[in-house]
Amino acid sequence: VNRPHILMSPPDHFEVFYAINPWMDVKIAVDKQLAKRQWQELREALSEQADISVVDSAPGLPDLVFTANAAFVVGRKAVIARFKNAERQPEEPHYERWFRENGFEVVLLPRDTSFEGAGDALIYDDRLILAGYRQRTDVLAHQRLSQEFGLPTLSLELPHPHFYHIDVCLCPLPRGHLLYYPGAFDEYGLRVIHANVPEEKRLEVSIVEARQFACNAVSVGNTVFANQISARLREALRRRGFQTVSLNLSEFIKAGGSAKCLTLRLN
Ligand code: ARG
Repeated sequence: VNRPHILMSPPDHFEVFYAINPWMDVKIAVDKQLAKRQWQELREALSEQADISVVDSAPGLPDLVFTANAAFVVGRKAVIARFKNAERQPEEPHYERWFRENGFEVVLLPRDTSFEGAGDALIYDDRLILAGYRQRTDVLAHQRLSQEFGLPTLSLELPHPHFYHIDVCLCPLPRGHLLYYPGAFDEYGLRVIHANVPEEKRLEVSIVEARQFACNAVSVGNTVFANQISARLREALRRRGFQTVSLNLSEFIKAGGSAKCLTLRLN
């Protein structure tokens, strides 16, 4: 059987020297040593159940650690990111090179179609792509994903600046479960979610949990890895057959990212 395969990038050059989302504040210092330890702990925890590949970090590109944004990958095909913000655009060739060198079929979107990879596109229940738009990703990119992968894409608008990528407010889990923060969507988005995800499979998180990045979770088999998982959420997940690994990713939250943002599932 295929062991899960995850792409990460070490935080050697991680810091916050620009602000492109409301979590980021250039006046709040990142503890770089602590960031390295937190990243290493995440890597080690995931390594028990998954193979980890690494794309090199690069000076001047602090957000390269957030490999979730590198691309959207299904099978051997990778649609490479087109970052909305100029600060992150120089990351694109790094990711593109990694995918080419590792034998993936690379798809490049037009320069003016912004798309932030698996930060804004997630596979739900092996049959649907749930994709976010407006803040970072253009809805045009969603159409392209449907064409490339032959799956319907449900486009969900992200109206709230703190929830700027869909992976900070929604997380598909195995067996059709869905973890999400309802407050991050508009009424129409919620209707779309409700129409496609059976009630007993929906797991809602509170605003407090959402702000601790509960939805920015990585699932490997039946284990869910996330920042500071609350006792309530741990119990709710346990009842649905999931174990949890709670981590401290405080330094990455200063950049608006957590466990899921630091990983990209490759299979
Ligand atoms: N500072 C990064 C940005 O604003 C954080 C990216 C987090 N990644 C994610 N998949 N949500 O782009």
